[in-house]
Amino acid sequence: MTKNIDLSTTVAGVNLESYIINASGPDCTTYEELQTIARSESAAVMMKSCTVEPREGNPEPRYQRLDFGAIQSMGLPNLGYKEYVKFSAQLRQEYGKPVIASLSGMCKEDNLKMVEAFQESPVDMIEVNFSCPNIVGKPQLGYDFEQTDKVLGEICKINSKPIGVKLPPYFDLCHFDMVAEIMLKHKVGFISCINSIGNTLIIDAETEAPIIKPKGGFGGLSGQYIKPVGLSNVRAFLERLKGQVAIFGVGGIVTGTDAFEYLLAGADAVQIGTTFEKEGAASFSRIAQELQAIMQRKGYSSIAEAKGKLREL
Ligand SMILES: Cc1cc2nc3c(=O)[nH]c(=O)nc-3n(C[C@H](O)[C@H](O)[C@H](O)COP(=O)(O)O)c2cc1C
Repeated sequence: MTKNIDLSTTVAGVNLESYIINASGPDCTTYEELQTIARSESAAVMMKSCTVEPREGNPEPRYQRLDFGAIQSMGLPNLGYKEYVKFSAQLRQEYGKPVIASLSGMCKEDNLKMVEAFQESPVDMIEVNFSCPNIVGKPQLGYDFEQTDKVLGEICKINSKPIGVKLPPYFDLCHFDMVAEIMLKHKVGFISCINSIGNTLIIDAETEAPIIKPKGGFGGLSGQYIKPVGLSNVRAFLERLKGQVAIFGVGGIVTGTDAFEYLLAGADAVQIGTTFEKEGAASFSRIAQELQAIMQRKGYSSIAEAKGKLREL
């Protein structure tokens, strides 16, 4: 019924067979988890944000599902970048799907070291995570515009892969102007917005305590709660990036209608985090089918036809 709706898209010159991929974080840390994504309808395999050294992450409980999303302070548990360089080669060979590395260095030198290492790998894109809110003692780089400019400049000098930046949510129009200018200056291929809304607090009135342990209960909020922020961030950057930088929309996508809203806002493709964690890999095909159905109902036959077409009221 909906087979004429073409969900293929292109991000930073990389062709994706569908509009939908997984977001870095949930269930993309081990090779087994990455294989599950590779076998699913996710159009690419996004890997867990890695650091130079393997990390255990923060103490448990560090992830809690909520009625409309989740709160977490994982603290970047991962196997260390060398494993992901290896995994990317195995995944590329075994499945032929685009593979995306996500890098989350603890300092500029770490980021440079990992960007360099992935140049030799077959990853199709690199996403540098400038927005992890859950590392004790580390600010989110994306909120320090001077450092963002500096670190990105150095990264881009040594990189020849399609590269993008995972951004934190912004809430001030001036900040969109400033960040967009930096992205254009360094000619990044894409941005991914948004990461979880950092340092939120959920309190259980019965236990009179927070529901996650790290950082006094402060953690990143994700899922349906954050969709309006994700949509505004995509829209604000679309208006400022002059079509020169692609955009992954991320945040609160549960249904095909949510994905369609990101499409209208201007996203070139979307990433799914919390919903994948809750529902598993079947969520990618379900959301794709729902997106096709809504596009068909509205008379759109391709992503390009609807992209950014938010109407004025
Ligand atoms: C358990 C968990 C772990 C995450 N880890 C990462 C990460 O390692 N790197 C990253 O860039 N974002 C990470 N995120 C953020 C997600 O990629 C995504 O930006 C955010 O959750 C919003 O999307 P969602 O509402 O679809 O989950 C994580 C999110 C969750 C829920």
